[in-house]
This record gives sequence, structure tokens and C-alpha cells, in this order.
Amino acid sequence: MNRTTKLLLVALALCMTPVLSASGQDLKEMDRQTYLLAGQQIFKNPPGDCSACHGWNGTGRAHDHIYAVDFDAGGPSLSLSKMTRDEMIHMVSCGSVASNGVNVMPQYRPDAWTPAYPCWGKLAADIPADQRPLRTGWNLTHAQIEAVVDYIQDAYQGKLMNWDWCSTYFDDFKRMCEVWRDYGAQ
Ligand code: HEC
Repeated sequence: MNRTTKLLLVALALCMTPVLSASGQDLKEMDRQTYLLAGQQIFKNPPGDCSACHGWNGTGRAHDHIYAVDFDAGGPSLSLSKMTRDEMIHMVSCGSVASNGVNVMPQYRPDAWTPAYPCWGKLAADIPADQRPLRTGWNLTHAQIEAVVDYIQDAYQGKLMNWDWCSTYFDDFKRMCEVWRDYGAQ
């Protein structure tokens, strides 16, 4: 899938899915499980929509249930990530100037690469315009970035998504999670 097709799919997903509106203050007042579920919504839907590239189960692979095939979603596995929480927060805020040849990690924090939030010590002016991270137009607050990273660390990093997290991911969870389990993911 080329980058334009991918962006079109991401744009389509934006039209079809509800936008999470929890503010930083709301997130701070939630109990841990509700907070992680808010992180899951950011992962799943715009304005995060991380699942578009990292896969719904965080492995970087997506599954097509109709044709029963796995395909590369374009982003690396978060289960295998060795990043600390702070490193992940920085990566999601800034995006990545590197491309893995398939896709690029978008920048989610609007003031990243400015003096307010330099990225790896650099400002936008330090790198050529055509090498800057992708801006999808979707912005996350610092609190939303923390929530999605905490969800990733709880549900994916160092492990595979389990039944409990799967059951909160899909509305029609029984059908989706049973198909997934039948493919040996658990
Ligand atoms: C358009 C595709 C795309 C989207 C959408 C996307 N990512 Fe990424 N992500 C990537 C790619 C590609 C990389 C690899 C970047 C690199 O190696 O420099 C990456 C890297 C990462 C990493 C670092 C993993 C590691 O250990 O190297 C984290 C963490 C991450 N993304 C989290 C997120 C989160 C959270 C979201 C949603 C808020 C998100 N990504 C949305 C494509 C995407």
C-alpha cells in the first residue's frame, strides 16, 4: 500500500469514527482502568488512530477476517518496543524523521519542534522541510499522549494483547476476539 492510499484510508477512518473528547483534566480524574480505556480509544480512533499503522493488537500486523490473511500495517510492533515511557511520549509528540520504507510516524503534538518542545534537541528549522515528520492534522494533548502510551505499555509492550483487552476493544467483541483467538494469538 503506498503512502497516498494509506493517508486516504486514514482520512476515511476519520470520517467514520467518533473523536475522543476527554480533556487533560478529565483524564487526570479517571480511575486507572477508565483512564487506560480512554488511552485505548485514542489508539483505536482519530485523533490518534495509532491502530492504522501499528495494528489493533499493537504488533504492526493487521488481520483481514474475510480473507483470513495477515498484512503489514506499516508501523513497527509495539509489543517488541524497548522504549521507556518517556521515550515513547517523546516519539508520539514529535513523530519520526526516519521512514521504515513503508510509513512514517506522524507528529501529534502541535508545538513539537518549536522552542516550546524541541525534539531530540532540534527545532524544525534544523531539518529540511521534506524530511520532517508527517503532519496528519490530528493533534493530541500531552495528557492524551500520556494516556495512549500508558495503554500501550499496559496492553502491548513486552506481551501480546490478551482476551480482557480484546473484549474492550471491539463492540462486537465475542465475534472478533474469538476469530482472533482461533488464529492462535492467545
Ligand atoms: C501513519 C502511520 C503511523 C501512525 C498513524 C502511528 N504510527 Fe507510530 N510509528 C510509525 C512508524 C513507521 C514508526 C517507526 C519510526 C521510526 O523507526 O523512526 C513508528 C514508531 C512508533 C513508536 C516507537 C516504537 C519503537 O520502539 O521504535 C511508538 C511508541 C509509536 N510509534 C506510537 C504510536 C502512537 C501512540 C500512535 C498514535 C497516537 C502512532 N504511533 C501512530 C507509524 C505510525
